[in-house]
Formats: sequence, structure tokens, C-alpha cells
Amino acid sequence: MNGRSKRVRILALLAVVAVTGSLAYALSNARKGYEPRQPILFRHTRMAGVPVWQTNEKGEKVNVGGFGIPCVYCHTMPYKGRHSTVPSTAVCMNCHSSVGLNKEWVLKMKDYWDRGEPIPWVKVHDLPDFVYYDHSAHVNAKDDQGKPLLAVTDEQGKAMVVCQNCHGKVEEMEIVSVQNTFNMQWCLDCHRKPEMKTSTDCVVCHR
Ligand code: HEC
Ligand code: HEC
Ligand code: HEC
Ligand code: HEC
Ligand code: HEC
Repeated sequence: MNGRSKRVRILALLAVVAVTGSLAYALSNARKGYEPRQPILFRHTRMAGVPVWQTNEKGEKVNVGGFGIPCVYCHTMPYKGRHSTVPSTAVCMNCHSSVGLNKEWVLKMKDYWDRGEPIPWVKVHDLPDFVYYDHSAHVNAKDDQGKPLLAVTDEQGKAMVVCQNCHGKVEEMEIVSVQNTFNMQWCLDCHRKPEMKTSTDCVVCHR
């Protein structure tokens, strides 16, 4: 075999790997389960989870569970605009200028605050720019009778936050991870449900 045909074969092989590799990626729902580590261990379980009261050795009642802070206290935007937002450190400092100052991660957060630097939170969900998505249109969606279109109760009929439809039970997560595929098929599967009365035209999501 001469050098040239060898090179052609290697190039052909590389091309096959590239094609099948990218195909496998496209079919693998690569986003689901993505769970990036954050600069500060911010636990939704502790801030947004349900309280669990225990009596410690001194006989005092202590909350070892969560503080049940509502999602919208920190994520103020989902009901008002396209984007939800991750809170600025000022929101955390409403409480943490006085609370939890003996805790490692709270001190680290205060360091950022004292230096005037934002906490470099890593984005968990990040759709490509050619997709148009709007939070308020979803969390406020109502039918003709004024009933919410997205579920606000779980399978057992218990009340849940509307966010759970797409993000799962964030209040039970130590570290936030992506709970659904967040690909086009997933969006369409819900838009196609007759009770959603929602368009599946390309221009709805690609404007
Ligand atoms: C005390 C403030 C606070 C509360 C309350 C809170 N969050 Fe968060 N949330 C954050 C912070 C800070 C981050 C960024 C760090 C991270 O991803 O863990 C975040 C991240 C997220 C993300 C991922 C954002 C991304 O980058 O894609 C989702 C989704 C989310 N929160 C949903 C919720 C839901 C749903 C609730 C209510 C059950 C809630 N949060 C309650 C502060 C809060
Ligand atoms: C409404 C009040 C309130 C707000 C707002 C708040 N926290 Fe907290 N946070 C608490 C309380 C109360 C504790 C428990 C303190 C303790 O255990 O001593 C706590 C504990 C913590 C801890 C350590 C406990 C642990 O193990 O998880 C971290 C880290 C933390 N908060 C980060 C944040 C961040 C980041 C924000 C802003 C996005 C925030 N908090 C906003 C009240 C608040
Ligand atoms: C219909 C599905 C759906 C519902 C319901 C929903 N989200 Fe989201 N959320 C998304 C999608 C899709 C993204 C990614 C947007 C992007 O990357 O452009 C996202 C991103 C986020 C982010 C990251 C910041 C951003 O805007 O990209 C946060 C924080 C968040 N959601 C919080 C919430 C909270 C809190 C609720 C409930 C009040 C909620 N979401 C309800 C689908 C949903
Ligand atoms: C759980 C169901 C559900 C999922 C998942 C979902 N949607 Fe929707 N979507 C709806 C409903 C319900 C409406 C509102 C219908 C109405 O108000 O008429 C809507 C409306 C929209 C609109 C129109 C907003 C406007 O300005 O009128 C866009 C754009 C959209 N969705 C994009 C997306 C994208 C992109 C995804 C995936 C990342 C997605 N949706 C996932 C249920 C869903
Ligand atoms: C309900 C929202 C929604 C509708 C309607 C929709 N798309 Fe998409 N589309 C998406 C999302 C979300 C992605 C990003 C997928 C990803 O990154 O995983 C996407 C990605 C794409 C891509 C990039 C290739 C890919 O698979 O990532 C093309 C091309 C595309 N859409 C074409 C269309 C066409 C053509 C239509 C109409 C027949 C359409 N879309 C309707 C949400 C939608």
C-alpha cells in the first residue's frame, strides 16, 4: 500500500468516527443528568426543602431539614419574563449577613460579597441561541376556565410548584441536575398534548 492510499483510508475512517460519534451524541440525550459542580455548595435541600425538626443532645429543637424558602424568593423572574434568573449575592446576604456565619460555604460566599465579585455559578440548563423559550408563557399558561395548563399537583394529587413539570423536585436536590432531555422532541411531546392547546409551528420556537 502506498502512503497516499493509506492517508485516504485514515481520513475515511476519521470521517466515519466523526459522523457516528456525532450521531451517537445526538441520540444520547446528552443533556439529561448533567450536574455541574458549583463554586459554592448551595444545597436546594437546605434552602428550599421541607423542614425536619429534631431534638439535639442539649434538648433544643433544631431544623436538620430545609428552610422552605419559596422558589420565587430567589428566582423572581419566571412569572414575569422570558428568562428565569439565578439570584444575586445580595439576595443571599438578606439573611447571611447574620445567619450561618460559622459555616464554611457561607464564609466563602461572604468572601465574594466583600470583594464585590459575583459568584460564578455554572449554568445547568443552556439551550442553543436559535431556540426561543419563554418562562412566563409556561408558568402562567391557563385554559379558558382559568385553570393552569401545566400540572400544579403531582400523581398523588399533592400540591407541587409548577417548575417541577420541567425541572423535577429541585427542593430535594443537593446539587441541581437536568431532569429531562430538553431537546426538541421533549418540547414537542408536551406541545402536542391536546389539553395543552399549544402550537407546534417551527416559528413558535425558532423565530
Ligand atoms: C435561597 C435561594 C434559592 C431558592 C429558595 C431556590 N433556588 Fe434555585 N438556585 C439558586 C441558586 C443560587 C442557583 C445556582 C446554583 C445552582 O445551580 O445550584 C439555583 C439554581 C437553580 C436551577 C438551575 C439553574 C441553571 O443554571 O440552569 C433551577 C432549575 C432552580 N434553581 C430551580 C429552583 C426551584 C424549582 C426552586 C423551588 C423549589 C428553587 N430553585 C429555590 C437559589 C435558590
Ligand atoms: C431567608 C433567609 C435565607 C436566604 C435568602 C438564604 N439563606 Fe442560606 N441559609 C439560611 C439559614 C437559616 C441557614 C442555616 C444556617 C445554619 O445552619 O446555621 C442557611 C444555610 C446556608 C448554607 C450552609 C448550610 C448547608 O449546609 O447547606 C449555605 C451554603 C447557604 N445557606 C447558601 C445560601 C446562598 C448561596 C443563598 C443565596 C442564593 C442563600 N443561602 C440565601 C437562610 C437563608
Ligand atoms: C415548560 C418547562 C419549564 C418550566 C415549567 C420551568 N422551566 Fe425553568 N427552564 C426551562 C428551560 C427550557 C430552561 C433553559 C432556558 C435556556 O437555556 O434558554 C430553563 C432554565 C431555568 C433557569 C436557568 C436560567 C435561565 O433562564 O436560563 C432557572 C433558574 C429556572 N429555569 C428556574 C425555573 C423556576 C424557578 C421555575 C418555576 C417558577 C421554572 N424554571 C419553570 C424550562 C422550564
Ligand atoms: C410540560 C409542557 C410543556 C413543555 C415541556 C414545553 N412547553 Fe412550551 N408551552 C406549553 C404551554 C402550555 C404553552 C402555552 C400555551 C398557551 O398559553 O396558549 C407553551 C407555549 C410556548 C411558547 C409560546 C410562548 C409565547 O410567546 O406565546 C414557546 C415559544 C414555547 N412554549 C417553547 C417551548 C420550548 C422551546 C420548549 C422546550 C425547551 C417547551 N416550550 C417545552 C407547554 C410546554
Ligand atoms: C416547541 C418548540 C420547538 C418547535 C415547535 C420546533 N423546534 Fe426545532 N428545536 C427545538 C429545540 C429545543 C431545539 C434544540 C435541540 C437541542 O439542542 O437538543 C431544536 C433544534 C432544531 C434544529 C437543530 C438540529 C437539532 O436537532 O438540534 C433544527 C434544524 C430544528 N429544530 C428545526 C425545526 C423545524 C423545521 C421545526 C418545525 C417543523 C421545529 N424545529 C419546531 C424546539 C422546537
